[in-house]
Amino acid sequence: MGFTIAIDGPAASGKGTLARKIAERYGFHHLDTGLTYRATAKALLDAGLPLDDETLAAEQADKVDLGALDRSVLAAHEIGEAASKVAVMPAVRRALVEAQRRFAIREPGVVLDGRDIGTVVCPGAELKLYVTASPGVRAGRRFEEIGKSGGNLSYDDVLDDIRRRDARDMGRVDSPLRPADDAHLLDTSEMSIEAAFRAAQILIDEALARK
Ligand code: DC
Repeated sequence: MGFTIAIDGPAASGKGTLARKIAERYGFHHLDTGLTYRATAKALLDAGLPLDDETLAAEQADKVDLGALDRSVLAAHEIGEAASKVAVMPAVRRALVEAQRRFAIREPGVVLDGRDIGTVVCPGAELKLYVTASPGVRAGRRFEEIGKSGGNLSYDDVLDDIRRRDARDMGRVDSPLRPADDAHLLDTSEMSIEAAFRAAQILIDEALARK
């Protein structure tokens, strides 16, 4: 089995950027598991189907192709909202977690980021990080991203969305967002991505040396 790094955290915490940088530096495969929930939600939206029918949603989840996840198509803020709704349904999670676990056995190692990687998808991961930042800081980052891509939500709208999404992701019954007991916490509220990466690197190098 390869080396597994599990990275969890709330929306716009910086976990995705961190995961990509780690994968690049260590030559590991990277899966942003949020994209699998986003792809499921987008398939339902495109087909004009409801977001709260578990059977229909699980059918779409079964069809998600991990090799064809296109971040640029799935990045929209509204798709993130919709993804958080389909993610409460156990049958959707079962289908996507199965695909994520198949990905996670790749050699020489993998970095998966999401909400339940350290707790559910890869509980045996060699290293677990839980990346957070205050809701205000996360809303600021998301607001800037949305502005750059031409969107026109206000900062307050974005902050409301972030709080609503946190409540849904942390409050759901199946696999709620929470740090695994053995996760290292990384609060990036006052940290640059470079500083977060350096902190992660120290932990990864220690974990690699233990293996
Ligand atoms: O990280 P993201 O914003 O792309 O995730 C979109 C939604 O997908 C998120 O609000 C909840 C859900 N999700 C999940 O439930 N479990 C994961 N491992 C990843 C994402």
